[in-house]
Amino acid sequence: MDQANGLRQLVRKKAYDMNGVKGGVKKYAVGSSFPRVLAVTSGKGGVGKTNIVGNLALAFRRLGKRVLILDGDLGLANIDIIFSLNPAYNIKHVISGEKDLSEVIVEGPEEIRIIPAGSGLQELVHLTDGQKLNLLNEFDSLNEDFDIFLIDTGAGISSNIIYFNLAAQERIVVATCEPSSITDAYALMKVMFTQHGTRSFKLLVNMVNHAEEAKSVFRNLSNAVVRFLSDISLEYIGFIPRDDNFQRAVRQQCTVMQCYPESKSSKGFCELAQRLLACSANTPSDGNIKFFWKKLMTCH
Ligand SMILES: Nc1ncnc2c1ncn2[C@@H]1O[C@H](COP(=O)(O)OP(=O)(O)OP(=O)(O)O)[C@@H](O)[C@H]1O
Ligand SMILES: [Mg+2]
Repeated sequence: MDQANGLRQLVRKKAYDMNGVKGGVKKYAVGSSFPRVLAVTSGKGGVGKTNIVGNLALAFRRLGKRVLILDGDLGLANIDIIFSLNPAYNIKHVISGEKDLSEVIVEGPEEIRIIPAGSGLQELVHLTDGQKLNLLNEFDSLNEDFDIFLIDTGAGISSNIIYFNLAAQERIVVATCEPSSITDAYALMKVMFTQHGTRSFKLLVNMVNHAEEAKSVFRNLSNAVVRFLSDISLEYIGFIPRDDNFQRAVRQQCTVMQCYPESKSSKGFCELAQRLLACSANTPSDGNIKFFWKKLMTCH
């Protein structure tokens, strides 16, 4: 039996134990919530994902939603830094069994909860079955409910990024008007579709001067998708304007939503959060956090 099969069996058994239903098809009954699980991803680095996750989380909070962030970004400016946090532990300590998940989750501004992952997630693909089960057990015992689970996947097409995107219910692909960001966004969707059959993506265009610029990025990408990957659905969900206050906020080690709530990019985040809430998730509501981890652990 290969490792993936072995794990799938363990996961199925675990679902059976929890639900008392063969195959674990029944949804979790106790302490369960069905948050939207949204991965924020990109082909090219530096397009604004981490800042988008932080600001969007604040926009959701201000609409009364309970938000959990998974920092899967191994880049330099990660979620801890944009929120000026200094977490002592990260998911590596959960994987190794040294810490409970509740000891690793940190509280950011406005009661946003954050799972610092950073380098702890570097080798998700190499985790042993035992380590995967540690993670699954911890997420099974997570007794706090959330409405939104946001994942900063990092950039590119490395295995972790693909797995986060596969396991999430919805994928927000971030692109800018730079040609390389558009071609890399296309490459990411192509890999997700041709190798994993993922068909639906949302496009958010960042750092543009006006709506027309964002729409032309969407047109470029969607023309390529229609031509070469016709089974993919790419939904345009809006844009965040380029905003000097954004940089000022970053220099003050806070987010634009905190320091400059009236600025154009903050308004963009509020509108984006409202728009996302107005359209229901486009996949069935089995995307809870535990289910996300189960999917993630059996991706490979
Ligand atoms: N709308 C915007 N207006 C102005 N500057 C922005 C905007 N969005 C992001 N930036 C700036 O772009 C830079 C990159 O942002 P960020 O680190 O969030 O990108 P990333 O996609 O997470 O990068 P990586 O792929 O390396 O993880 C930062 O300096 C950030 O301040
Ligand atoms: Mg980042």
